[in-house]
Amino acid sequence: MKLNKENFPHEIKIVEVGPRDGLQNEKKVLELEDKKEFINLLSKTGLKTIEVTSFVSPKAIPQMADSASLYSSLNINDIDLPCLVPNLRGFENAMSCGVKEIALFSATSDEFTKKNINCTVDESFDRMSEVAKEAKLKNIKMRGYVSTAFGCPYAGLMDKESLLKVVQRFLDLGVYEVSIGDTIGVAAPSQVHEYLEYLSQHIDMSKIAMHFHDTRGLALTNILVSMEFGIKVFDSSVGGLGGCPYAKGASGNVATEDVLYLMDGLGIKTNVDLDKVVAASKYILDKLGKKSPSKFFNAYINSGY
Ligand code: HMG
Ligand code: MG
Repeated sequence: MKLNKENFPHEIKIVEVGPRDGLQNEKKVLELEDKKEFINLLSKTGLKTIEVTSFVSPKAIPQMADSASLYSSLNINDIDLPCLVPNLRGFENAMSCGVKEIALFSATSDEFTKKNINCTVDESFDRMSEVAKEAKLKNIKMRGYVSTAFGCPYAGLMDKESLLKVVQRFLDLGVYEVSIGDTIGVAAPSQVHEYLEYLSQHIDMSKIAMHFHDTRGLALTNILVSMEFGIKVFDSSVGGLGGCPYAKGASGNVATEDVLYLMDGLGIKTNVDLDKVVAASKYILDKLGKKSPSKFFNAYINSGY
């Protein structure tokens, strides 16, 4: 497989998912003030979108139980602050604290959605279409997530036809972008290439973002492959935090600092300040009492550059 840089973008956008995907998988549940300070630090890095929390069942994800008070306490106006919403109940809770953008989520695998959201993929689209109908009436922006796009911890390898079908269903709901998730970090670069090539024959790739977990160390390589298809939006999490409690073996998202360093090396603009990102990572990792899996973070802490 030869990398074709012809379609590489000049600039990419990072969707920072640390406060949501990052913290939802941590044993330690942080204080609201610590999360707020984390989000404030992130908001000063140049990031334009920060997914701050999720309005899900507190029984399913106790780490996000403070979503309403956290969102209401934020005083950030120049950045998009989307929140994950699983159903109408979550949507109404999000609306009552002034959320302006929501993220809807499903997967290619029924086995996964049954564990994650207690319903099949089809049923999840029934729920999401109720939410989408209300969101359109209120002019709320919607983004969609497809989990287990390449592989599922319970059902194994996923096929590209199922991925296309779910992406299309999200576009039909009216989302402005679909984020394709390698939830358990199993995708090989050749598989990402094959699936994106297939998608590019059927849909407008400017509506696609990629969401790689770095469980097996291939997230950066997979980002390079994605850029061959002109993809310009990547989800990442500072310090490489992240994972889904309902995806066995899922570990951190690709680290924001690793993505920034890669883009810097390629001369691709991000408009995000790497030093400030490391400071935000250090803040949250200290609060969690955790080491970071990010290669760049550790090198920077050890060497100062
Ligand atoms: P359920 O048990 O089928 O729901 O859960 P239910 O409607 O029967 O309600 C059960 C209880 O939850 C009730 O409370 C409801 O009121 C309450 P009780 O009567 O027992 O006291 N409830 C809620 N409470 C607060 N907010 C709500 C809400 N809805 C119901 N919105 C449900 C179904 C979807 C609610 C549950 O399974 C859930 O919340 N799941 C969320 C799981 C989750 O957040 N997973 C991680 C995010 S996805 C991810 O990380 C992947 C991603 O990063 C991309 C990738 O990497 O692939 C996005
Ligand atoms: Mg994720």
